[in-house]
Amino acid sequence: MSVVFLTIDTLRDFLGNTNGSRGLVPTMGALHAGHLSLIERAKLENDCVVVSIFVNPLQFGQGEDYLQYPRDMESDRLACEQAGVDVIFAPTPEEIYGAGQLTKIIPPEAMTAGLCGRSRVGHFTGVATVVAKLFNIVKPHRAYFGQKDGQQLAIIRQLVKDLNFAIEIRDCPTLRMTSGLALSSRNQYLDSEQLSIAVSFYESLKLAESAFLAGEIDSKVLIYVVKSYLSPQVVLEYLELVNAETLEPVEKVQTKSMLAIAGRVGNTRLIDNIILNID
Ligand code: PAF
Repeated sequence: MSVVFLTIDTLRDFLGNTNGSRGLVPTMGALHAGHLSLIERAKLENDCVVVSIFVNPLQFGQGEDYLQYPRDMESDRLACEQAGVDVIFAPTPEEIYGAGQLTKIIPPEAMTAGLCGRSRVGHFTGVATVVAKLFNIVKPHRAYFGQKDGQQLAIIRQLVKDLNFAIEIRDCPTLRMTSGLALSSRNQYLDSEQLSIAVSFYESLKLAESAFLAGEIDSKVLIYVVKSYLSPQVVLEYLELVNAETLEPVEKVQTKSMLAIAGRVGNTRLIDNIILNID
């Protein structure tokens, strides 16, 4: 049975009486199979698995979907229960931020200037701040993040390094629908026509991957391949080849590069990426 805590003090009291290794899966709820795969991995590697469910207001900009973001605590609780989660931490914004958050973690400019950071100004400061707080509250040995949010993952790895958190960051592969569409809580916003348009994100990335596997490493060509297949109904926000660790744009595929895309289908903003590895 998963024990639910709403406050930091009660969670800390409980965790203080547990032994062994602890894994944290930070989420904003609306759990899907992608989250469950993170939980499954955390279960394999830890004695106690904590899932945090917190729609973090600090990472949403003005005009973004903070209020509409899907919330269904009862279904999330059941999903955690079935997945064998030991502890659910589901605080309110007041519990996490009290009267406000005066100290914030600002990730390196070079890692937030491009990709999602270009249009979502302040987003990664919100993410880094809440993740650092969760790390301090839960004190996990390992924390689990999806490769789908590749920029977030790289920024969190940097945060752990720069702030000396003794936490192993585990990245888990993107889970996809049979159509190839990356699982995302925001897929709930899409109707059936939009779902079929959204599939072209992954299909076009896969074409670029085939070109890469056939020997193409030039970013301009790989980007051209994606653009020529992407549905014209997608309003493209960015399509970039970057170093997957530093997030610096690269002209040719390097050891570990990420071809990342973001765009809108109707009002829904979707992201996806693939890793291209020269090795
Ligand atoms: O990826 C998410 O769901 C969120 O950005 C995270 C890491 C839980 C922080 O709020």
